[in-house]
Amino acid sequence: MTTAILSALAEEQQGLLELLQHAQRVRRAGREFWLGELHGTPVVLALSRIGKVAAATTATTLIEAFGAQRLVFTGVAGGIGADVQVGDVVVATEFVQHDMDASPLFPRYQIPLYDRERFACDAALAQALLGATRAGLGQLELPATVHHGLIASGDRFVSAAEEARALHAALSDAGHAPLAVEMEGAAVAQVCHDYGVPFAAMRTISDRADDTAHVDFPKFVTEVASRYALAIVDEFVRELNKSRA
Ligand code: ADE
Repeated sequence: MTTAILSALAEEQQGLLELLQHAQRVRRAGREFWLGELHGTPVVLALSRIGKVAAATTATTLIEAFGAQRLVFTGVAGGIGADVQVGDVVVATEFVQHDMDASPLFPRYQIPLYDRERFACDAALAQALLGATRAGLGQLELPATVHHGLIASGDRFVSAAEEARALHAALSDAGHAPLAVEMEGAAVAQVCHDYGVPFAAMRTISDRADDTAHVDFPKFVTEVASRYALAIVDEFVRELNKSRA
């Protein structure tokens, strides 16, 4: 069974590439995919690229061209839940698109013709990722809080406190209070739903989606998020391997 590991950022993928055995690079859909093994588990590594459409193309290619049978996503996000702080990690249960609005034809946030606002992660895979997140952070001896819940995606880098507050309030009023905001997860979740492929995602909180988000983001990505992602994926793949044995 091939597991796809989708990273949002090149910095996050770098550590995985260094661990990849029998590495083979393949170009497809204008993207690079890396096939190989991590701790004996067959994997394909890819960068999601930024935004919902780019991430959907990457996810579709992973499934159609590389036969990925489960997808795991690592990346960073802005924390918008009240107690979600920089340095915390959110493992997703579900995704909503905060910029989906086909009203009055369909209710706000509903994905037209799917009759739903949210796409869920695979419960078992999300639990495995949650366990790997706790174990990986434990290895790094970091006291980060791990949250498990709803993430909102949209084609916008949220970088103003008032915008983050309004986005959180509008979603909450509709019954979709999110912990974090990012730009790809809901698209990958929808593609995986379409193909019936299990999906799980974790996001390290790089900023609070406020007026300092653009300053916090690049610094955090290079200094912290890539270390988190490597430790967590390493742990996750080891666990997958054990459960196969
Ligand atoms: N990813 C990381 N921080 C983000 C933010 N503030 N908005 C959207 N995506 C993000």
